Amino acid sequence: MFELEGQRVLIAGGSSGIGLGTAKIALEAGADVTIAGRSAERLEAAVASLGGKVETASLDATSDAAVEDYFAKSGNWDHVVTTLGKGGRGLIQDLEMKTALTAMDDKFWAYFRIARAAKITKGGSLTFITGGLGQKPAPGAAMLSATNAAVEGLTLGLAIDFAPTRASGMIPGPIDTPLWEQMPPDARKQYFEMIENKLPARRFGAPEDVGKAVVMLMCNSFMTGVVFQVDGGSAIV
Ligand SMILES: NC(=O)c1ccc[n+]([C@@H]2O[C@H](COP(=O)([O-])OP(=O)(O)OC[C@H]3O[C@@H](n4cnc5c(N)ncnc54)[C@H](OP(=O)(O)O)[C@@H]3O)[C@@H](O)[C@H]2O)c1
Repeated sequence: MFELEGQRVLIAGGSSGIGLGTAKIALEAGADVTIAGRSAERLEAAVASLGGKVETASLDATSDAAVEDYFAKSGNWDHVVTTLGKGGRGLIQDLEMKTALTAMDDKFWAYFRIARAAKITKGGSLTFITGGLGQKPAPGAAMLSATNAAVEGLTLGLAIDFAPTRASGMIPGPIDTPLWEQMPPDARKQYFEMIENKLPARRFGAPEDVGKAVVMLMCNSFMTGVVFQVDGGSAIV
């Protein structure tokens, strides 16, 4: 059903978590996949876990020069996915300005920079991985809400400006990725159990759950200008 044979797919943030899960599903659909990230070690481990079938790009999406240089040389892409960023949690009175600015740099401005530089074919797609806090705030996460809401606004604007190249956003629910290793193990275990009891899907998400939806967006040429959840029902509870 999902056919990407011969299509070039770039996943910025493809060496871990949601990006890695998306790379796996895109490969299964026959795409020629490139995963990009900063750490050579993480890229190598990702290539091994994908059976060696992907290209890699060493890229820091927070650098104007690196991003412009990479896209000037890498040619046309059929599909580009960005899945980057972390940080910015806390009451804003307690957040250093530097931390807040870095949160926007690591996600919103990195996505903006890639969207600005990437050459995507007509009818191809750009998919931003955003986050549920953009639509459904939680205590102590106003900065994360702002970052993800900014990504959503950018997505919708680009669907107009880039047409007929498509732009969409994906809102993951809680997905089991290395991002959660920031949480102490006991607290993480408790949080996962709480989520598994509360979510209508009754489980934590896997990176491939999001990957399947991203590949569906790539393959459906009538889908653009949408931002939707793959979240086990998080948005309604
Ligand atoms: N996991 C969840 O439950 C969840 C829920 C909602 C939203 N999200 C969102 O989904 C996105 C991905 O999360 P994840 O859980 O998959 O995280 P992850 O496992 O930590 O993966 C992040 C990926 O991004 C790369 N990366 C980070 N900064 C980069 C930069 N400046 N330039 C290039 N590559 C960079 C990382 O590689 P390097 O560090 O080597 O560069 C890694 O490949 C984030 O935007 C997150 O907010 C996640």
